[in-house]
Order: sequence, then structure tokens, then C-alpha cells
Amino acid sequence: MGRPRDRGHANRVLHRAVELGVNFIDTADSYGPETNESLISQALYPYPPGLVIATKGGLVRPNRRSWVPDGRPDHLRRAVEGSLQRLRLERIDLYQFHAPDPNMPFIESVGALVDLQRSGKIRHIGISNVTVAQLEVARSITPIVSVQNMYNLRNRTSEDVLAACERLRIAFLPWYPLGGKRGLRALKIKQVASRRGLTHAALSLAWLLAKSPVMLPIPGTRSIDHLEDNVLAAALKLAPEDFDDLG
Ligand SMILES: NC(=O)c1ccc[n+]([C@@H]2O[C@H](COP(=O)([O-])OP(=O)(O)OC[C@H]3O[C@@H](n4cnc5c(N)ncnc54)[C@H](OP(=O)(O)O)[C@@H]3O)[C@@H](O)[C@H]2O)c1
Repeated sequence: MGRPRDRGHANRVLHRAVELGVNFIDTADSYGPETNESLISQALYPYPPGLVIATKGGLVRPNRRSWVPDGRPDHLRRAVEGSLQRLRLERIDLYQFHAPDPNMPFIESVGALVDLQRSGKIRHIGISNVTVAQLEVARSITPIVSVQNMYNLRNRTSEDVLAACERLRIAFLPWYPLGGKRGLRALKIKQVASRRGLTHAALSLAWLLAKSPVMLPIPGTRSIDHLEDNVLAAALKLAPEDFDDLG
């Protein structure tokens, strides 16, 4: 929420990510709100070839404590225009509907994104915070390329959604992959991390990547050191006994 205290540092984190070969950045119009998308374009535009910026719309932040779903087609049309402008793009590679709106039929919100796709403003459509049934509703009117749901070593309530994504061969973006600010400090995770000499973050990312071929983790960080560790974690291989212990 708000602007970064040190804008120069935020720029350096973004540049370092691209230098390290990160080619997928997840954001949303509600991060800041708006600030995060603007920071990305200010730091990285003109974008290097191959960089995919995925953004989201359909959740608004009237204040620091609230996240309010707004899946009205009118709102989504305005949201896409705003994201295009802030990201300095003519077309958004991946636009994700951030969360179903209980006051609006889900299919109408997704339908609005299909119209925006037809008019060339969105390349691919993704959805977030959905059930398997909602994924099927969305797929009944358009191809869906990704689902973004909470999923990490400790919270696997979206296991069925992950299985559906595997079956359908669409990307699954686990949000909160490290368990957020406090990390994943369960005893088993600590034990395996210390046996392997890994940080909890590295272990969490290596576990996610090994868990499924459609997994696309999106760890968040403001720190260059953490960013570098997280990129290195992508090359780690866990042993079978690590999986036995972690499940
Ligand atoms: N679709 C949705 O509804 C939804 C909801 C929430 C988040 N998201 C997306 O998911 C992304 C990740 O979620 P998140 O940032 O909330 O949770 P997260 O990635 O699980 O955790 C981020 C936290 O972990 C710390 N961290 C990162 N790398 C670390 C490392 N190597 N060692 C130790 N600590 C480390 C970060 O602190 P430092 O800054 O100090 O590194 C930050 O406090 C977000 O950026 C967003 O794009 C989506």
C-alpha cells in the first residue's frame, strides 16, 4: 500500500530481476493501488524481449485494510484501460480476473475480459482465487491459460485446483508461495531445511517447483539478496526423503 520509501531501491530490485533472467512478473492494479504497475514501467520500459508482465483487476482497495471485489464489466473495462496506460502497453500479455465478485455472476466478469481480448487489449486470460467449478465456468466461454490461488507447503487447500490445472495443462501460480512475511516455520519444514542446509524460502520454492510441471511460483520481495536466493532456489533438487517428510 502506498509508494515505496526508496524508489531507487525498488528500481534496482526490478532491474536485478531482469538481469537474473526472470521473465515473468506478476502485479495487479490494486497493489499500491496503481503504484506497483507504474513502478514496473518506470523501471523497465521499454521492456526487454520475452518479458511477460501479468497483471490483475477486479479487486479494489478503498483503504489499507480492505480488499473489495468489483467484477462489474464496466469496472473491468476501466481497470484494463488503466493498467494499459500505467504499464505503457498496447496489449496485456496475461490479464487475470483477481477474484470472483459475489455480487456479479462470475461468467459476466469473465465475459467482459473475453470482449477486451477480442478488441486486442488482452492477449491471454487468467483467473485467480477460484474453485474448480469456477474454472470450468470460465472455460465454458474462453480458453484460460492460468489460475492464481493461494498454495504453499502449509496451505494446500487448492490441491484440487492444482490437479485440474495439471490435467488441463494450464499454469498454476501459487500466491503466498513463501507463506508471506512470517515464512513457513512449521517444525517439519525447519527440520528438512536444516538437514539440507537451506533457508525456508529456498526449500519452499524448490518443493513447489518439484510438486508440479505447471507450477509457476511468484515469490514477492523488496530485497535484492532475497531475490538472488529465490532465483537460485529454482535450480535446487530435493531428495525423495525430503518429499516423504514434507508430503
Ligand atoms: N491473487 C491474489 O489474490 C494474491 C494475493 C497475495 C499475493 N499475490 C501475489 O503473490 C505474490 C507473492 O505473495 P506475497 O508477497 O504476499 O507472499 P510470499 O511471496 O509468500 O512472501 C513474501 C515475503 O517473504 C519475504 N521473502 C521473500 N524472499 C525471501 C527469502 N529468500 N528469504 C526470506 N524471506 C523472503 C519477503 O520479505 P522481503 O521483502 O524482505 O524479501 C516478504 O515479506 C505477490 O507478489 C503477488 O503478486 C496474489
